[in-house]
Amino acid sequence: MGIAGARVKVPATIANIGSGFDALGLAISWHNIVEIERSHKLRIEIHGEGEGELPRDESNICYKAFVSACELLGEKPPCVTLRLRNFIPLERGLGSSAAARVGGILAATALLQMELKSEDVLTLAAKLEGHTDNVAPALLGGLVISGWKSDGTGVFAVRLPIEYVPPAVVLIPNCVVPTELARSILPKTVPLNDAVFNLGRACLLLGSLVAGKIEFLREALMDRLHQPYRQKLMPWLSEVISAALEAGAIAACLSGAGSAIAAFVKDNAEAVSDAMLTALQRHGINGYTKLVHMDKQGAQVERW
Ligand code: HSE
Repeated sequence: MGIAGARVKVPATIANIGSGFDALGLAISWHNIVEIERSHKLRIEIHGEGEGELPRDESNICYKAFVSACELLGEKPPCVTLRLRNFIPLERGLGSSAAARVGGILAATALLQMELKSEDVLTLAAKLEGHTDNVAPALLGGLVISGWKSDGTGVFAVRLPIEYVPPAVVLIPNCVVPTELARSILPKTVPLNDAVFNLGRACLLLGSLVAGKIEFLREALMDRLHQPYRQKLMPWLSEVISAALEAGAIAACLSGAGSAIAAFVKDNAEAVSDAMLTALQRHGINGYTKLVHMDKQGAQVERW
């Protein structure tokens, strides 16, 4: 007797975390929900972010991930109703597409009652997504180090064994930055000293969180590999980061490829939020903020 349906809850993510370009990602307390049920014909409902905007046919990325997972499992994709309850803003560097893909894959395994190893879920999701650093924390939760294996066989991912990451004020500007555009603006090569600068800081970031030495985070989030180039697309970026730091944030960075900006805080979220919004508004752009915490659970599946 098969199951009637399933619900998958997948967290948003802050990829890169400043210095860890294409390697680090943090799952946060902001979620999309994918509900799936067997039905007589394909039906895709979208509620919330992307409602009336995202495709509701076979080209929907959550549905495509569902189909790819069925194929990987050697099964013909069953006819389904897919209900997407989207809370993660689109095209802001918060991993909304990664959440859709991870949600679609896990919805397939839940509905078919078949297992995929975590590594296979990650490899499929990362192939569909094009990079690993959003899909890995979206699946596993917490702060995850990930990348493509050098032998081309898939993805590696390690969840950092930490209990605490400071909460973050996330600023969501009222303007989108497509990841492809934000990647096309990056140089093909970078100076060795910039690579060394980031390498040291990405290691410092992991070390300071493991050792509980939060005082190193400001240095650890500094970056020379992507943010300086992306400033051209988001001219307010450095001013918003400076405003957050001046208002008492521990550290701040672009979230993924942007346009969201994350500022890690102690108990001063409101002051940091005000400062970030004011700095953004000085550039004639509005937005809003949300306080988030690390999501430790990653994607959660419930069947009925
Ligand atoms: N690491 C990717 C980038 C993440 O910065 O382009 C995209 O969210």
